[in-house]
Amino acid sequence: MKDYKRILVTAALPYANGPVHIGHLAGCYLPADIYVRYQRARKSDIKFVGGSDEHGVPITIRAMKEGITPQEVVDKYHAIIKESLAAMGISFDIYSRTSNRVHHETAAAFFKKLYDEGLFEEKESEQYYDEQAKTFLADRYIVGTCPVCSNPNAYGDQCERCGSSLSPEMLINPHSALSDAIPVKKKTKHWYFPLQQYESWLKEWILDGHKEWKNNVYGQCKSWLDNGLQPRAMTRDSNWGIKVPLPDAEGKVLYVWFDAPIGYISATKELTENWVDYWCKDDTKLVHFIGKDNIVFHCIIFPAMLKAHGNFVLPDNVPANEFLNIEGDKVSTSRNWAVWVHEYLKDFPEQQDVLRYVLCANAPETKDNDFTWKDFQDRNNSELVAIFGNFVNRSLVLMHKLCKGKVPPLHKDSMDEKDAALLKDIADAKTRVEESLEQYKFRDALFEVIDLARKGNKYMQEKEPWIVARRLEENPSAQDLIDNSLHLCLQLTANLAILINPFLPATAKKMLHMLKVVEKMLDWENAGKTNLLSVGYSLREPQLLFRKIEDEEIKQQVEKLKAGLIKPAADTTPAAAAEPVSLKPSIVYDDFARLDLKVGTIVKAEKVEKADKLLKLEVDLGFEIRTIVSGIALHFSAESIVGKQVVVVANLAPRKMRGIESNGMILMAEDKSGKLHFVSPDTAVDNGSGVS
Ligand code: 2FM
Ligand code: ZN
Repeated sequence: MKDYKRILVTAALPYANGPVHIGHLAGCYLPADIYVRYQRARKSDIKFVGGSDEHGVPITIRAMKEGITPQEVVDKYHAIIKESLAAMGISFDIYSRTSNRVHHETAAAFFKKLYDEGLFEEKESEQYYDEQAKTFLADRYIVGTCPVCSNPNAYGDQCERCGSSLSPEMLINPHSALSDAIPVKKKTKHWYFPLQQYESWLKEWILDGHKEWKNNVYGQCKSWLDNGLQPRAMTRDSNWGIKVPLPDAEGKVLYVWFDAPIGYISATKELTENWVDYWCKDDTKLVHFIGKDNIVFHCIIFPAMLKAHGNFVLPDNVPANEFLNIEGDKVSTSRNWAVWVHEYLKDFPEQQDVLRYVLCANAPETKDNDFTWKDFQDRNNSELVAIFGNFVNRSLVLMHKLCKGKVPPLHKDSMDEKDAALLKDIADAKTRVEESLEQYKFRDALFEVIDLARKGNKYMQEKEPWIVARRLEENPSAQDLIDNSLHLCLQLTANLAILINPFLPATAKKMLHMLKVVEKMLDWENAGKTNLLSVGYSLREPQLLFRKIEDEEIKQQVEKLKAGLIKPAADTTPAAAAEPVSLKPSIVYDDFARLDLKVGTIVKAEKVEKADKLLKLEVDLGFEIRTIVSGIALHFSAESIVGKQVVVVANLAPRKMRGIESNGMILMAEDKSGKLHFVSPDTAVDNGSGVS
């Protein structure tokens, strides 16, 4: 392992186009904060930077929806996000914003350096243009009918009713969201970063050099690199963003994914005049905490940009999390299927640690996970209250009752093997928590802490000092046994405060208060020690660390979540929203019989160049091999579907997509979460078999 002198931690800059929800917390802010608090307790030289991402289409779309300016959007949401994150105890050293001047200058200078060194390719391409509004249109600004669910208000990149990923070509009756005009293709010039030139370096750096990265991260990088990298436009036609710092670039801004990660550098510049140490010295450990949708940008594109620029350190690790679903359904901000952090804090004041606990215990570290209010209640009641809180409370209550409110001595001669085992458990827990945290395994680390509290409860139960106390009159030396058990329980309590501090800082603070010790005790080097509380020291009366959460509170949250759900397409067409979701008008058998459905086998699949969502498939229909372009690339990798039997609408009129003629359509089932599944015969049949 490299010997690092300082650490720079970044957490993805959230778009300032809405408040943050618990998926954001679980995805990156909470793990980043736990790691940072742990490193601070270790006295590492560490900085934690973040801020709002205030450019790009997400902002302008929100402005259009709310009928306000992009500046008003970012001002509003930056404030809300900043406050929510602070209230959750996310302890950034700086929470900045990409609209700051420092950032504009830093990002523009970064671009200019690459430009001056001739590192960009200048290319003309055809983009959709709105002749009435006289502006180029991002895919999001093109609306039309979804080819999957017939939602008339689908966007050119996604249908928010059915969740399908789309491209403008796939929309039926596409039109501009700005003026209703039919978009036309128009030539425009952009500056492309030739990612392909960095492919072999990236392969060596990641695939050979960072095998220790999490499987989900490494796997995604490998798949991108195996598929081959393409040049990527680093500029956009828009008037919202950082202006391209070139004379012939009127109406062009930096691509938001070019400027946003540079935001980490700008924020560090704002934070400290020593920013160069953190960004340019080899002995800095740079760690990016992100959600899985950001992997390619942080592992491939940004490192390639840094490499091209030179003089910057590269990330040592990018511990990305998967997604957190809610009550079995994927989070959707447009459908309002989310638990908003600012609302949680209103409903559960002073209980940020409970949410931190549940989100860490159930963190989507290796796969998507589900947050349910029932699990929230269970974990609170049976882990925080019944295990951790109970142990701490019992230790203090009994100490007050049986040891006059003072830390009792440890009588070494009267120690037995249970006492010795507990001492060992305390020392081992420190090592285990540490090992897990160093490997970004936050759930495991937290479980170790809870396990230590569980061991404390078991020890207390076995020692039963309250029963021993009954024998005191006939046997005064029994006080030694009481002293020993409570001495150890109190030292264990002090250890729990240190170990839980990165995860539940407000709880650790309350414990410090009860133990009447200063914050210094939480230094990590004190973990594992069993002389943290001096003998004879008087402690405060205990206060409960956690309270039970009642069924009624949980019921209300579930109802609130369901009541808040916005029915499909409600935010784009109020008229359509008023109608219940209904079946399409009925058809007669002859209508159905006009469809020619055939079973076929996918014999070849490949990604369509420059179309993230499309796969070009060759399907063997028995009588011929068909080319079909299908919008499923975000759901399946090309390799994974070769050999699959599928049902094809075989007599669908041909249609061109990205210049490829598509002859048919594959039938897919779509589940509630928007995930696609192939419709296949339940057992293999001959290709060309009819479906009726
Ligand atoms: O996905 C997002 O929400 C982006 N705003 C994350 C940007 S992270 C970094 F590059 F700034
Ligand atoms: Zn749809």
